[in-house]
Amino acid sequence: MAVTTYEDVLSQLRAAIDQAPTPNDALSVSVNILKEQMPDYAWVGIYLMDGDELQLGPFLGKPSPHSRIPLSKGICGAAATEKKTVVVDDVDVDPRYLACSLDTRSEIVVPILKGARVIGEIDVDSDKKAAFGPADRELLEAAAAMLANKFPA
Ligand code: SME
Repeated sequence: MAVTTYEDVLSQLRAAIDQAPTPNDALSVSVNILKEQMPDYAWVGIYLMDGDELQLGPFLGKPSPHSRIPLSKGICGAAATEKKTVVVDDVDVDPRYLACSLDTRSEIVVPILKGARVIGEIDVDSDKKAAFGPADRELLEAAAAMLANKFPA
């Protein structure tokens, strides 16, 4: 069986996001593709800015107790505040970390930026330590850029 490459996943995301009739459909379909195609991605979700908090949107994986996250909290709050991708190789030693599942070992959070404005973020958890390398960051940052384009200015 052919191995799915990062390039394949990116092509799938591009096609699906292009074809999605609404921004919210684009978010859901992206979560589905990432969860289905990336074996180490145990939890994939989107948070959207709502006032000065992050509100959980579409996700796949165990239900999260953190459906709303203030910007001052969590890895999610840090990525939105810094407007930069945050990669945590070992969540057990990062004091910012808000636990979602006890099995989670590493996490990546990629802001979705519309110009200088954070409109949301892609959050991925893995049950493996240091699961997210440069290729994961590139894939998710490309996905975030394509998603941002679906939202009105
Ligand atoms: N771990 C995140 C909270 C969200 S759950 O992972 C789904 C954080 O520290 O912000």
